[in-house]
Amino acid sequence: MKDERPILEIRNLRRTFGEQQVLKGVNLKVPRGQITVIIGGSGCGKSVLLKHIIGLLKPDEGSILLDGKDLVTMEPEPLKEARMRFGMLFQDAALFDSMNVYENIAFPVREHRKMKEGDLANLVKEKLLQVGLPNTEIKYPSELSGGMRKRVGLARAIVLNPEIILYDEPTTGLDPIMSHAIDDLIVATQKALNGTTIIISHDIRATVRIANKVAMLHHGAIVAEGTPEEMMRHANPVVREFLESGITKVPTSAR
Ligand SMILES: Nc1ncnc2c1ncn2[C@@H]1O[C@H](COP(=O)(O)OP(=O)(O)OP(=O)(O)O)[C@@H](O)[C@H]1O
Ligand SMILES: [Mg+2]
Repeated sequence: MKDERPILEIRNLRRTFGEQQVLKGVNLKVPRGQITVIIGGSGCGKSVLLKHIIGLLKPDEGSILLDGKDLVTMEPEPLKEARMRFGMLFQDAALFDSMNVYENIAFPVREHRKMKEGDLANLVKEKLLQVGLPNTEIKYPSELSGGMRKRVGLARAIVLNPEIILYDEPTTGLDPIMSHAIDDLIVATQKALNGTTIIISHDIRATVRIANKVAMLHHGAIVAEGTPEEMMRHANPVVREFLESGITKVPTSAR
């Protein structure tokens, strides 16, 4: 039977940097086995939210429940286990420039698992094939295009077969054809891993195309959520405008 409980539930998440209150009580349920897209103006706190979900940042207040267990208050050992259920593609791909593609993708495996080098080599090969970049093991990040770097970042994010994959702006800076290819790859990866996907996106058209659920972050809180169709018809004009225009910045007048 399909498990209808949200895999992830964020409750009243608050985070301040100095004087700046970035997250002002975020509440969000992430449905299991679906693609959830978080949208919002530049600088509104989307990346900060994602970094809280994977535990890179700690909130001042609030909880992040993974299958009902709070990651914020979890002991280090279970937290380490829980974190292995997540894979993340960072906004800038965040590859290690001093390592070649092979070592970049092998890195999380070396950190978390014991594996023979031959098996590891096969795994890296398989993941590179999955993201459409076969035989690039010995290249260095500086020798790759932006789209290729995102793909290597994706291969690294999925190398431990995570159940939940987070993508921070996976298509920003890519041409429309490459963007489309990356979106297809996200959907294919979602299916292959039978997982849950969370995407932060500025690309409204893609959002509508691949999302099961869309949530809008605005003024430090989720102000609207629903299916793409529901969001297009949302009562809040800020939401409709954001979706209709595909703009990347919410005008200051709307803040
Ligand atoms: N580690 C940090 N220390 C202090 N301030 C931070 C930190 N990380 C983020 N901020 C601030 O929090 C705010 C939200 O940043 P964030 O990166 O989450 O925005 P974003 O919604 O992802 O924007 P974009 O769409 O441009 O990527 C910004 O004003 C940023 O300067
Ligand atoms: Mg960001």
